[in-house]
Amino acid sequence: MKVVITGAAGQISYSLVPFLCQQGVFKSNEKIDLALVEIPSAMERLNGFVKELEDSAYSTVNSISTFDNIQDAVIDADWCLLVGSIPRGIVLNGKEIKERSDLLQINGGIFTEQGKAIGEKAKQSCKILVVGNPANTNALIGYSNSPNKNQFWMAMTMLDALRAKAQLSIKLNCHVDDIYRLAVFGNHSPTMFPDLENTNINGQNAYDLINNHSWVENEYLPRIQQRGAEIIKARGASSASSAARAACDTVKAVEHPTRSGDVFNAAILSDGAYGMPEGIFSGFPLISDGNGDIEIVRDFSLSDFAKNKLEITANELLEERNFIKELI
Ligand code: NAD
Ligand code: LMR
Repeated sequence: MKVVITGAAGQISYSLVPFLCQQGVFKSNEKIDLALVEIPSAMERLNGFVKELEDSAYSTVNSISTFDNIQDAVIDADWCLLVGSIPRGIVLNGKEIKERSDLLQINGGIFTEQGKAIGEKAKQSCKILVVGNPANTNALIGYSNSPNKNQFWMAMTMLDALRAKAQLSIKLNCHVDDIYRLAVFGNHSPTMFPDLENTNINGQNAYDLINNHSWVENEYLPRIQQRGAEIIKARGASSASSAARAACDTVKAVEHPTRSGDVFNAAILSDGAYGMPEGIFSGFPLISDGNGDIEIVRDFSLSDFAKNKLEITANELLEERNFIKELI
Protein backbone atom coordinates (compact mmCIF):
# COMPACT_ATOMS: atom_id res chain seq x y z
CA MET A 1 0.00 0.00 0.00
CA LYS A 2 1.86 3.06 -1.24
CA VAL A 3 0.68 6.44 0.04
CA VAL A 4 2.15 9.64 -1.41
CA ILE A 5 1.84 12.93 0.49
CA THR A 6 3.01 16.21 -1.02
CA GLY A 7 3.76 19.25 1.12
CA ALA A 8 4.96 16.69 3.65
CA ALA A 9 7.00 19.17 5.70
CA GLY A 10 4.05 21.57 6.00
CA GLN A 11 1.56 22.22 8.78
CA ILE A 12 -1.23 19.93 7.64
CA SER A 13 1.05 16.99 6.95
CA TYR A 14 2.55 17.22 10.44
CA SER A 15 -0.85 16.04 11.76
CA LEU A 16 -2.02 14.13 8.69
CA VAL A 17 0.76 11.58 8.46
CA PRO A 18 0.33 10.37 12.08
CA PHE A 19 -3.45 10.16 11.54
CA LEU A 20 -2.95 8.03 8.41
CA CYS A 21 -0.61 5.70 10.28
CA GLN A 22 -3.29 4.74 12.81
CA GLN A 23 -4.76 1.25 12.49
CA GLY A 24 -7.94 0.94 10.45
CA VAL A 25 -7.68 3.95 8.15
CA PHE A 26 -7.06 1.81 5.07
CA LYS A 27 -9.13 -1.26 4.36
CA SER A 28 -6.14 -3.38 3.41
CA ASN A 29 -4.00 -4.83 6.17
CA GLU A 30 -0.92 -4.36 3.99
CA LYS A 31 1.70 -2.21 5.64
CA ILE A 32 2.14 1.31 4.30
CA ASP A 33 5.02 2.58 2.19
CA LEU A 34 5.02 6.31 2.83
CA ALA A 35 6.37 8.50 0.02
CA LEU A 36 6.80 12.03 1.32
CA VAL A 37 7.30 14.82 -1.23
CA GLU A 38 8.63 18.35 -0.77
CA ILE A 39 10.29 21.10 -2.72
CA PRO A 40 14.11 20.93 -2.57
CA SER A 41 14.43 23.83 -0.10
CA ALA A 42 12.19 22.06 2.44
CA MET A 43 13.96 18.69 2.38
CA GLU A 44 15.92 19.34 5.55
CA ARG A 45 12.73 20.15 7.45
CA LEU A 46 11.16 17.02 5.98
CA ASN A 47 14.11 14.91 7.12
CA GLY A 48 13.50 16.18 10.67
CA PHE A 49 9.87 15.06 10.46
CA VAL A 50 10.95 11.67 9.12
CA LYS A 51 13.11 11.18 12.20
CA GLU A 52 10.01 11.78 14.34
CA LEU A 53 7.99 9.34 12.26
CA GLU A 54 10.71 6.72 12.68
CA ASP A 55 10.69 7.36 16.42
CA SER A 56 6.93 6.77 16.44
CA ALA A 57 7.57 3.13 15.39
CA TYR A 58 4.18 2.68 13.74
CA SER A 59 3.22 -0.97 13.36
CA THR A 60 1.22 0.01 10.24
CA VAL A 61 4.27 1.34 8.37
CA ASN A 62 6.65 -0.66 6.20
CA SER A 63 8.91 2.10 4.87
CA ILE A 64 9.36 5.88 4.71
CA SER A 65 10.94 7.51 1.66
CA THR A 66 11.41 11.15 0.77
CA PHE A 67 11.38 12.78 -2.68
CA ASP A 68 12.08 16.24 -4.06
CA ASN A 69 10.26 15.43 -7.29
CA ILE A 70 6.80 14.08 -7.98
CA GLN A 71 7.74 11.77 -10.88
CA ASP A 72 9.75 9.32 -8.77
CA ALA A 73 7.43 9.55 -5.78
CA VAL A 74 4.21 8.43 -7.46
CA ILE A 75 5.43 5.21 -9.10
CA ASP A 76 2.83 2.50 -8.28
CA ALA A 77 1.01 4.75 -5.79
CA ASP A 78 -2.33 3.58 -4.34
CA TRP A 79 -3.17 6.97 -2.84
CA CYS A 80 -1.86 10.50 -3.53
CA LEU A 81 -2.72 13.22 -1.03
CA LEU A 82 -1.84 16.50 -2.73
CA VAL A 83 -1.38 18.94 0.13
CA GLY A 84 1.71 20.79 -1.13
CA SER A 85 0.87 24.36 -2.14
CA ILE A 86 0.77 27.86 -0.68
CA PRO A 87 -1.98 28.78 1.82
CA ARG A 88 -3.81 32.13 1.71
CA GLY A 89 -3.24 34.77 4.38
CA ILE A 90 0.39 35.29 3.33
CA VAL A 91 1.75 38.48 1.75
CA LEU A 92 3.25 37.98 -1.69
CA ASN A 93 4.90 40.80 -3.66
CA GLY A 94 3.43 43.28 -1.18
CA LYS A 95 -0.14 42.02 -1.69
CA GLU A 96 -2.08 39.94 0.83
CA ILE A 97 -3.58 36.77 -0.63
CA LYS A 98 -7.15 37.13 0.63
CA GLU A 99 -9.30 34.54 -1.17
CA ARG A 100 -8.47 30.94 -2.02
CA SER A 101 -9.11 31.69 -5.70
CA ASP A 102 -6.29 34.30 -5.56
CA LEU A 103 -4.00 31.28 -5.19
CA LEU A 104 -4.90 29.90 -8.61
CA GLN A 105 -2.06 31.65 -10.38
CA ILE A 106 0.45 30.57 -7.72
CA ASN A 107 -0.67 27.00 -7.07
CA GLY A 108 -2.33 26.01 -10.36
CA GLY A 109 0.96 25.19 -12.09
CA ILE A 110 1.90 22.63 -9.41
CA PHE A 111 -1.02 20.44 -10.40
CA THR A 112 -0.27 20.19 -14.15
CA GLU A 113 2.99 18.39 -13.45
CA GLN A 114 1.49 16.29 -10.65
CA GLY A 115 -1.52 15.23 -12.73
CA LYS A 116 0.71 14.12 -15.60
CA ALA A 117 3.05 12.15 -13.30
CA ILE A 118 0.19 10.44 -11.43
CA GLY A 119 -1.55 9.48 -14.67
CA GLU A 120 1.63 8.04 -16.13
CA LYS A 121 3.09 6.29 -13.09
CA ALA A 122 0.59 5.65 -10.29
CA LYS A 123 -1.60 2.52 -10.17
CA GLN A 124 -4.74 2.28 -12.32
CA SER A 125 -6.76 2.13 -9.10
CA CYS A 126 -5.02 5.17 -7.56
CA LYS A 127 -7.18 7.58 -5.55
CA ILE A 128 -6.15 11.22 -5.45
CA LEU A 129 -7.29 13.78 -2.89
CA VAL A 130 -6.42 17.44 -3.55
CA VAL A 131 -6.19 19.48 -0.36
CA GLY A 132 -4.12 22.43 -1.63
CA ASN A 133 -6.24 25.47 -2.44
CA PRO A 134 -8.20 26.34 -4.44
CA ALA A 135 -8.82 22.61 -4.13
CA ASN A 136 -11.68 22.10 -6.61
CA THR A 137 -9.98 23.83 -9.51
CA ASN A 138 -6.58 22.39 -8.67
CA ALA A 139 -8.20 18.95 -8.88
CA LEU A 140 -9.60 19.87 -12.29
CA ILE A 141 -6.10 20.92 -13.42
CA GLY A 142 -4.56 17.68 -12.13
CA TYR A 143 -7.26 15.47 -13.62
CA SER A 144 -7.17 17.27 -16.98
CA ASN A 145 -3.39 16.86 -17.25
CA SER A 146 -3.50 13.18 -16.37
CA PRO A 147 -3.41 10.78 -19.33
CA ASN A 148 -5.30 8.21 -17.19
CA LYS A 149 -8.99 8.94 -16.76
CA ASN A 150 -9.65 5.77 -14.70
CA GLN A 151 -7.96 6.97 -11.53
CA PHE A 152 -10.28 8.66 -9.05
CA TRP A 153 -9.72 12.39 -8.37
CA MET A 154 -11.33 14.27 -5.49
CA ALA A 155 -10.97 17.69 -3.88
CA MET A 156 -11.47 18.06 -0.14
CA THR A 157 -14.84 19.34 1.11
CA MET A 158 -14.86 17.05 4.15
CA LEU A 159 -13.63 19.87 6.38
CA ASP A 160 -16.64 21.98 5.37
CA ALA A 161 -18.91 19.05 6.18
CA LEU A 162 -17.31 18.52 9.59
CA ARG A 163 -17.69 22.23 10.34
CA ALA A 164 -21.31 22.09 9.21
CA LYS A 165 -21.99 19.10 11.46
CA ALA A 166 -20.25 20.65 14.44
CA GLN A 167 -22.23 23.90 14.22
CA LEU A 168 -25.49 21.99 13.75
CA SER A 169 -24.81 19.79 16.75
CA ILE A 170 -24.24 22.92 18.85
CA LYS A 171 -27.48 24.49 17.61
CA LEU A 172 -29.63 21.39 18.15
CA ASN A 173 -27.76 20.05 21.15
CA CYS A 174 -27.20 16.67 19.55
CA HIS A 175 -24.10 14.55 18.97
CA VAL A 176 -22.31 14.89 15.61
CA ASP A 177 -22.66 11.13 15.10
CA ASP A 178 -26.45 11.45 15.17
CA ILE A 179 -26.34 13.66 12.05
CA TYR A 180 -27.03 11.91 8.72
CA ARG A 181 -27.12 13.14 5.10
CA LEU A 182 -25.47 16.50 5.59
CA ALA A 183 -24.10 17.47 2.15
CA VAL A 184 -21.91 20.38 1.11
CA PHE A 185 -22.43 21.27 -2.54
CA GLY A 186 -20.14 23.24 -4.84
CA ASN A 187 -16.81 24.94 -4.27
CA HIS A 188 -14.56 24.90 -1.19
CA SER A 189 -14.95 28.68 -0.99
CA PRO A 190 -17.34 31.26 0.48
CA THR A 191 -19.97 30.13 -2.08
CA MET A 192 -20.14 26.55 -0.77
CA PHE A 193 -23.63 25.39 0.15
CA PRO A 194 -24.13 23.16 3.21
CA ASP A 195 -27.67 21.85 2.81
CA LEU A 196 -29.80 21.18 5.91
CA GLU A 197 -33.07 20.49 4.12
CA ASN A 198 -32.09 16.85 3.50
CA THR A 199 -30.26 16.34 6.78
CA ASN A 200 -31.64 13.99 9.44
CA ILE A 201 -31.01 13.79 13.16
CA ASN A 202 -32.28 10.62 14.78
CA GLY A 203 -34.84 10.35 11.98
CA GLN A 204 -36.05 13.96 12.20
CA ASN A 205 -35.42 16.61 9.56
CA ALA A 206 -32.78 19.13 10.70
CA TYR A 207 -34.26 22.09 8.83
CA ASP A 208 -37.68 21.44 10.40
CA LEU A 209 -36.15 21.04 13.85
CA ILE A 210 -34.42 24.43 13.50
CA ASN A 211 -37.62 25.97 12.13
CA ASN A 212 -35.90 29.29 11.43
CA HIS A 213 -34.92 29.98 7.82
CA SER A 214 -33.37 33.32 8.68
CA TRP A 215 -30.92 31.64 11.07
CA VAL A 216 -30.00 29.08 8.41
CA GLU A 217 -29.47 31.71 5.72
CA ASN A 218 -27.97 34.57 7.69
CA GLU A 219 -26.07 32.88 10.51
CA TYR A 220 -25.40 29.22 9.77
CA LEU A 221 -24.35 29.49 6.11
CA PRO A 222 -21.92 32.41 6.52
CA ARG A 223 -20.42 30.78 9.61
CA ILE A 224 -19.51 27.63 7.66
CA GLN A 225 -18.54 29.54 4.51
CA GLN A 226 -16.21 31.89 6.41
CA ARG A 227 -14.81 29.44 8.95
CA GLY A 228 -11.47 29.11 7.17
CA ALA A 229 -10.99 32.90 7.19
CA GLU A 230 -12.04 33.08 10.86
CA ILE A 231 -9.34 30.55 11.76
CA ILE A 232 -6.66 32.34 9.73
CA LYS A 233 -7.52 35.58 11.53
CA ALA A 234 -7.32 33.97 14.95
CA ARG A 235 -4.33 31.69 14.43
CA GLY A 236 -2.33 33.73 11.95
CA ALA A 237 -2.13 30.53 9.90
CA SER A 238 -4.65 28.42 8.05
CA SER A 239 -6.39 25.49 9.70
CA ALA A 240 -4.10 22.50 9.94
CA SER A 241 -5.18 20.05 12.65
CA SER A 242 -8.81 20.04 11.47
CA ALA A 243 -7.76 19.92 7.81
CA ALA A 244 -5.58 16.90 8.55
CA ARG A 245 -8.43 15.17 10.35
CA ALA A 246 -10.73 15.90 7.38
CA ALA A 247 -8.21 14.53 4.87
CA CYS A 248 -7.81 11.35 6.90
CA ASP A 249 -11.60 11.08 7.22
CA THR A 250 -11.93 11.34 3.44
CA VAL A 251 -9.50 8.46 2.98
CA LYS A 252 -11.43 6.40 5.55
CA ALA A 253 -14.75 7.28 3.92
CA VAL A 254 -13.54 6.04 0.54
CA GLU A 255 -11.86 2.91 1.93
CA HIS A 256 -14.83 1.67 3.99
CA PRO A 257 -18.55 1.29 3.22
CA THR A 258 -20.64 4.36 4.07
CA ARG A 259 -22.94 3.74 7.04
CA SER A 260 -26.48 2.94 6.03
CA GLY A 261 -28.61 6.00 5.31
CA ASP A 262 -25.68 8.41 5.38
CA VAL A 263 -23.38 10.14 2.88
CA PHE A 264 -19.82 11.44 2.91
CA ASN A 265 -18.49 14.59 1.29
CA ALA A 266 -15.87 15.27 -1.36
CA ALA A 267 -15.79 17.24 -4.59
CA ILE A 268 -15.67 15.06 -7.70
CA LEU A 269 -15.96 15.67 -11.44
CA SER A 270 -19.55 16.66 -12.12
CA ASP A 271 -21.59 14.57 -14.54
CA GLY A 272 -24.41 17.13 -14.39
CA ALA A 273 -25.94 15.83 -11.14
CA TYR A 274 -28.12 18.39 -9.34
CA GLY A 275 -27.68 20.75 -12.30
CA MET A 276 -23.97 21.30 -11.58
CA PRO A 277 -22.30 21.83 -14.98
CA GLU A 278 -20.24 18.95 -16.34
CA GLY A 279 -16.48 19.42 -16.31
CA ILE A 280 -16.06 21.10 -12.93
CA PHE A 281 -15.19 19.54 -9.56
CA SER A 282 -18.14 20.08 -7.24
CA GLY A 283 -18.94 18.96 -3.72
CA PHE A 284 -21.63 16.26 -3.72
CA PRO A 285 -23.13 13.79 -1.25
CA LEU A 286 -21.34 10.50 -1.96
CA ILE A 287 -21.44 6.87 -0.89
CA SER A 288 -18.70 4.27 -1.02
CA ASP A 289 -19.19 0.51 -1.17
CA GLY A 290 -15.74 0.05 0.40
CA ASN A 291 -14.48 -1.74 -2.72
CA GLY A 292 -13.46 1.28 -4.75
CA ASP A 293 -16.90 2.19 -6.10
CA ILE A 294 -17.95 5.73 -5.17
CA GLU A 295 -21.23 7.22 -6.33
CA ILE A 296 -23.14 10.46 -6.07
CA VAL A 297 -26.32 10.11 -3.98
CA ARG A 298 -29.01 11.53 -6.23
CA ASP A 299 -32.18 11.62 -4.14
CA PHE A 300 -31.68 14.95 -2.34
CA SER A 301 -34.59 17.27 -3.05
CA LEU A 302 -33.56 20.88 -3.56
CA SER A 303 -35.79 23.86 -2.75
CA ASP A 304 -35.65 27.05 -4.85
CA PHE A 305 -33.43 28.51 -2.11
CA ALA A 306 -30.99 25.60 -2.47
CA LYS A 307 -31.08 25.67 -6.28
CA ASN A 308 -30.19 29.35 -6.24
CA LYS A 309 -27.21 28.68 -3.95
CA LEU A 310 -26.02 25.85 -6.21
CA GLU A 311 -26.18 28.15 -9.22
CA ILE A 312 -24.00 30.74 -7.44
CA THR A 313 -21.31 28.22 -6.51
CA ALA A 314 -21.45 26.60 -9.98
CA ASN A 315 -20.89 29.99 -11.61
CA GLU A 316 -17.87 30.60 -9.41
CA LEU A 317 -16.39 27.23 -10.40
CA LEU A 318 -16.98 28.03 -14.07
CA GLU A 319 -15.22 31.39 -13.60
CA GLU A 320 -12.26 29.65 -11.95
CA ARG A 321 -12.14 27.12 -14.81
CA ASN A 322 -12.14 29.95 -17.31
CA PHE A 323 -9.29 31.64 -15.46
CA ILE A 324 -7.02 28.59 -15.82
CA LYS A 325 -8.25 27.44 -19.21
CA GLU A 326 -4.73 27.35 -20.64
CA LEU A 327 -3.71 24.83 -17.93
CA ILE A 328 -6.37 22.22 -18.73
P1 NAD B 1 2.17 24.94 4.64
O1 NAD B 1 2.69 26.17 3.98
O2 NAD B 1 2.40 24.74 6.09
O3 NAD B 1 2.73 23.66 3.89
C1 NAD B 1 2.69 23.51 2.52
C2 NAD B 1 3.93 22.74 2.11
O4 NAD B 1 3.83 22.48 0.72
C3 NAD B 1 5.24 23.51 2.34
O5 NAD B 1 6.11 22.72 3.17
C4 NAD B 1 5.80 23.69 0.94
O6 NAD B 1 7.21 23.59 0.90
C5 NAD B 1 5.15 22.50 0.21
N1 NAD B 1 5.09 22.64 -1.25
C6 NAD B 1 4.87 23.76 -1.99
N2 NAD B 1 4.91 23.46 -3.30
C7 NAD B 1 5.10 22.13 -3.40
C8 NAD B 1 5.25 21.23 -4.48
N3 NAD B 1 5.18 21.65 -5.75
N4 NAD B 1 5.45 19.92 -4.21
C9 NAD B 1 5.54 19.49 -2.94
N5 NAD B 1 5.42 20.28 -1.86
C10 NAD B 1 5.21 21.60 -2.09
O7 NAD B 1 0.61 24.89 4.30
P2 NAD B 1 -0.53 23.99 4.96
O8 NAD B 1 -1.12 24.72 6.11
O9 NAD B 1 -0.02 22.60 5.16
O10 NAD B 1 -1.63 24.04 3.79
C11 NAD B 1 -1.40 23.41 2.55
C12 NAD B 1 -2.52 23.74 1.58
O11 NAD B 1 -3.76 23.19 2.04
C13 NAD B 1 -2.81 25.24 1.39
O12 NAD B 1 -3.03 25.49 0.01
C14 NAD B 1 -4.06 25.48 2.19
O13 NAD B 1 -4.77 26.59 1.73
C15 NAD B 1 -4.79 24.18 1.91
N6 NAD B 1 -5.90 23.83 2.82
C16 NAD B 1 -7.01 23.26 2.25
C17 NAD B 1 -8.07 22.88 3.05
C18 NAD B 1 -9.31 22.26 2.45
O14 NAD B 1 -10.30 22.10 3.19
N7 NAD B 1 -9.34 21.88 1.17
C19 NAD B 1 -8.00 23.10 4.43
C20 NAD B 1 -6.86 23.69 4.98
C21 NAD B 1 -5.80 24.06 4.15
C1 LMR C 1 -9.89 26.25 5.30
O1 LMR C 1 -11.06 26.20 4.90
O2 LMR C 1 -9.62 26.31 6.51
C2 LMR C 1 -8.76 26.21 4.29
O3 LMR C 1 -9.25 26.16 2.99
C3 LMR C 1 -7.78 27.31 4.49
C4 LMR C 1 -8.34 28.63 4.04
O4 LMR C 1 -7.69 29.30 3.23
O5 LMR C 1 -9.40 29.01 4.52
